Amino acid sequence: MSSTVTDQALFEAAEAIRAKAYAPYSRFAVGAAILAEDGNVYAGCNIENAAYPQGNCAEASAISAMIAGGARRIKRIYVTGPGVAPVTPCGGCRQRIREFADLDVTVISHGVEGAPLACTLEQLLPHSFGPEYLPK
Ligand code: THU
Repeated sequence: MSSTVTDQALFEAAEAIRAKAYAPYSRFAVGAAILAEDGNVYAGCNIENAAYPQGNCAEASAISAMIAGGARRIKRIYVTGPGVAPVTPCGGCRQRIREFADLDVTVISHGVEGAPLACTLEQLLPHSFGPEYLPK
């Protein structure tokens, strides 16, 4: 990784915002930290809703923060959650990440009681559809 932002810094950003998660229904707090092309880190947590489908995933919140901050491209993303198993992005969030990341971008999934899992976006979302498929 050429950036001075380390995975440890991304982990800490994801964990700091995970502490703010609003997850009263699942009690499964998730944090996500994006290293964007502008060198900044944008973080988000899950935000649930009594009308369950209206909840937001942490990755969606982090993408919102990135766009609001004026950045457009994800260079690396770190997701943290409870437990031992890696907390990998849901299918919908894999597609959300796909909108703003190249296929070789590293996605780190970490259940904080266990070991982090580093994958490329292409591994998580093979044969994917993206913006370049649409006519300009
Ligand atoms: N969740 C995320 O925010 N990101 C993930 O990668 C996996 C799941 C949230 C959605 C819901 O609020 C809770 O975790 C349980 O599914």
